[in-house]
Amino acid sequence: TWSVEAYKDRKIRELREQIGSHKVICALSGGVDSSVTAALIREAAPEQIYCFYINNGLMRKGESEYVADIMRGRFGSHFFSINAEARFLKNLTGVSDPERKRKIIGETFIRVFEEEAGKISGAHYLAQGTLYPDVIESSPFKGPSATIKSHHNVGGLPEKMSLQLLEPLRELFKDETRELGLTLGLPPELIYRHPFPGPGLAIRIPGEITAEKLAILRDADTILLEEIRRAGLYNEIWQAFAVLLPVKSVGVMGDFRTYEYALSIRCVTSSDGMTADWFHFPHELLSGISNRIINEVKGINRVLYDITSKPPGTVEWE
Ligand code: XMP
Repeated sequence: TWSVEAYKDRKIRELREQIGSHKVICALSGGVDSSVTAALIREAAPEQIYCFYINNGLMRKGESEYVADIMRGRFGSHFFSINAEARFLKNLTGVSDPERKRKIIGETFIRVFEEEAGKISGAHYLAQGTLYPDVIESSPFKGPSATIKSHHNVGGLPEKMSLQLLEPLRELFKDETRELGLTLGLPPELIYRHPFPGPGLAIRIPGEITAEKLAILRDADTILLEEIRRAGLYNEIWQAFAVLLPVKSVGVMGDFRTYEYALSIRCVTSSDGMTADWFHFPHELLSGISNRIINEVKGINRVLYDITSKPPGTVEWE
């Protein structure tokens, strides 16, 4: 019978044989798949794996510190956190079209990764967290939404570097990947995180992205997740996030008229992201979140709740 322990032992043996004395590079996103991939390979070749986390400036608040904390503890001097925030934001200046945003983010990511990982001389393998569902969807993009939106993180990585792919999770489903991650000692909090898209907050700010808008969205997003965790609902929700709308509206605060952005909260349940239902939020909690966001986040004076399922909507707004 299949067991995650047996799978782990077999994979470690196979990886050891395959890797030999070669070097392996790996891009960590902070998500489950890349984290488990790297942790597994580390068991097979601890001195030969080099991990890179690229901060594209489109991450949630505290995300880069969170990832660095966990990964530095594990990979030590073989973990590199690259701050490419300014470069991504510069390349995205004046861009509003969702697909152009994705393309620019994907291309910038590859450039930065090539430059940084290229410093590891003689790297032979590139580790990727490809899962079984990604394999059976033989298209270079994941799932039916691919015809609607391109998912950059599934397409090809560096071409210049002529690396061989190492995909040790190719036989696993998501739940098995999570189980494996737990047996490898990764923190449960990381293992059960909501999915987060490669282009990050860029596709949660319809229209042009600015540092100011990113800061506003980060603060609102942090409050939303805090409240959902506090209510014990995090694990019942597939994804929970906020979208900063390119619309300002009039409000009143104390004796003053305000004219600030509107924000939409998006929480959905799903089993694979292909279809999704909007989450039936307890009204009290929703009103608490709205109050906190409007009181604590400068720049927002109106909060909406998105009640669109997928289809006909998509999970993300872009
Ligand atoms: P949609 O918005 O297509 O999202 O209903 C389905 C799932 O995919 C995620 N998503 C992305 N993930 N790059 C990613 O890595 C992308 O460009 C991208 N677009 C959407 C979305 O967060 C949801 O989990």
